[in-house]
Amino acid sequence: MTVVPREATGQADSGLLTIQGVSKHFGGVTAVDNCSLSIEAGTITAIIGPNGAGKSTLMNLIGGLYRPDSGRILFDGEDVTALPPYRRAKRGLMRTFQISRELAQLTVFENVLLAGQPVEIESPFAAFLMPRTVRREERRLARRAEELLERVGLFRLADMPAAGLSGGQKKLLELVRALMLEPKLILLDEPAAGVSPPMVRELARTIRELRDEGLTIGLVEHDMELVAELADRVDVLAEGRNLTGGSFQEVTRDARVVEAYLGGVA
Ligand SMILES: Nc1ncnc2c1ncn2[C@@H]1O[C@H](COP(=O)(O)OP(=O)(O)OP(=O)(O)O)[C@@H](O)[C@H]1O
Ligand SMILES: [Mg+2]
Repeated sequence: MTVVPREATGQADSGLLTIQGVSKHFGGVTAVDNCSLSIEAGTITAIIGPNGAGKSTLMNLIGGLYRPDSGRILFDGEDVTALPPYRRAKRGLMRTFQISRELAQLTVFENVLLAGQPVEIESPFAAFLMPRTVRREERRLARRAEELLERVGLFRLADMPAAGLSGGQKKLLELVRALMLEPKLILLDEPAAGVSPPMVRELARTIRELRDEGLTIGLVEHDMELVAELADRVDVLAEGRNLTGGSFQEVTRDARVVEAYLGGVA
């Protein structure tokens, strides 16, 4: 891994995350096509665009699930393009999925605890050599899990199997799981999809609070009311390309954006 000098990122005040000329092909399909964008620290940046625009693929590239065919991904001053997801997560870059991936048979609490486990395989002797350290770490994780569940109103369901949660509650669980590792940047793929209106309110409130506390958030979302309410900046993808970016007002007035959406409907 190489540390990228500020000037090399091509931006004076570079974002916490910068994507430079990233492309991804699946067979003959170009899912992401020479896309460049930046997410500034402490902001909510929404990535919008019609179905199939490449938003989830871009999330997967940022999170490290896919490697780009070309281009670079810089996070917190480092080139992370070649790092696997867990090593990005360790640096503070976390993502959630469009489809929740909770472990259905485990309880809500267990799901959250597991997400906080150190991802690297520790020495099997560590638990014998440092039982107190291990127990202290376990207590710390349990406390954090409780606090986070309390915060999103899921603590009363902590002992329930995750399978029994509603769609919206699963989205909140996914968010809490991502927060266990104390990330700097969190990527949310359609947090409001299939979520009841009251739960969308709860999610929106939590996302805004987290931003206000300094967390940086990348948000893929089709719910334009939510985007209008939350996004400090909006980037628009269409057919894998970064069409334009700016405030919600700016991009929704842009004729190219209107056309990209209408084209998708036609
Ligand atoms: N694993 C894959 N294998 C093959 N093609 C893929 C794969 N993932 C995505 N694609 C294709 O890449 C394009 C972009 O898909 P992607 O899921 O990134 O779009 P999206 O913007 O997230 O769409 P949506 O709003 O419907 O979630 C689509 O044409 C899709 O069919
Ligand atoms: Mg998607």
